[in-house]
Amino acid sequence: MAQQGPNAPVPVPTADAHQPAPRPVREGIDLVVNDKRYRHTGDASMPLLWYLRDELRLTGAKYGCDSGECGFCTVLVDGKAVQACATKMEKLAGKRVTTVEGLADGQGNLHPVQQAWITEDATLCGYCQPGQLMAAVDLLARQKNPSDADIDKITNLCRCGSYGPIRKAIKRAAAAMKDAKA
Ligand code: FES
Ligand code: FES
Repeated sequence: MAQQGPNAPVPVPTADAHQPAPRPVREGIDLVVNDKRYRHTGDASMPLLWYLRDELRLTGAKYGCDSGECGFCTVLVDGKAVQACATKMEKLAGKRVTTVEGLADGQGNLHPVQQAWITEDATLCGYCQPGQLMAAVDLLARQKNPSDADIDKITNLCRCGSYGPIRKAIKRAAAAMKDAKA
C-alpha cells in the first residue's frame, strides 16, 4: 500500500504520450540585433548580411558586390561600421549589431543622421543609402565635427553620385547632435 501523510514521496509525473518531448537547447551564436536577442543555430560561416536579410528579414542592408568594396551592406557591430557581407556569424558571439532599421529610437524619433538626410534630400535611387547612413553614424561617433577630408574617407560608393548632398547631410547631422548636447 502506498505511503500516505506529509512525508509521502512526491509522485514523479509520467511522460504523457500526447505531449511533445521538450527539445534540447541548441547551441548557437548569441548576439543582439537592434536591441533584441537572437541565437543563430545555422552555419557559423554564414555572412552577417544573409543572416540579417534571409533569417531576420531585415532587408535594409543591401548587397552590391562580391569584393567587399561597395559598402552597401554597412552595419554597426559594437558601434563600429563593418561590411556585413564580409563578416561571418562565427565572429559575432556576444556582439551588438545595429542596422538601419535600428537607428530610430523606437518612439518614432529619427536619428539625427536620418533627419539630416531628409532635409538635404540626399537620397536618389536609395540603394546605397542604408550603408551610407550607417557609415555616417560611425564617423560621427569618432568625429564630432568632421571636415570634408574626414567625410571623404568614407569609402561607400554611390552609383547615383549623391556625394555632395551626403556631405552636407553629415555636416548638418553633426551640428544637430552638437546642439542636442548643448
Ligand atoms: S555588398 Fe559590397 S561591400 Fe558588402
Ligand atoms: S542613391 Fe542610388 S546608389 Fe546611391
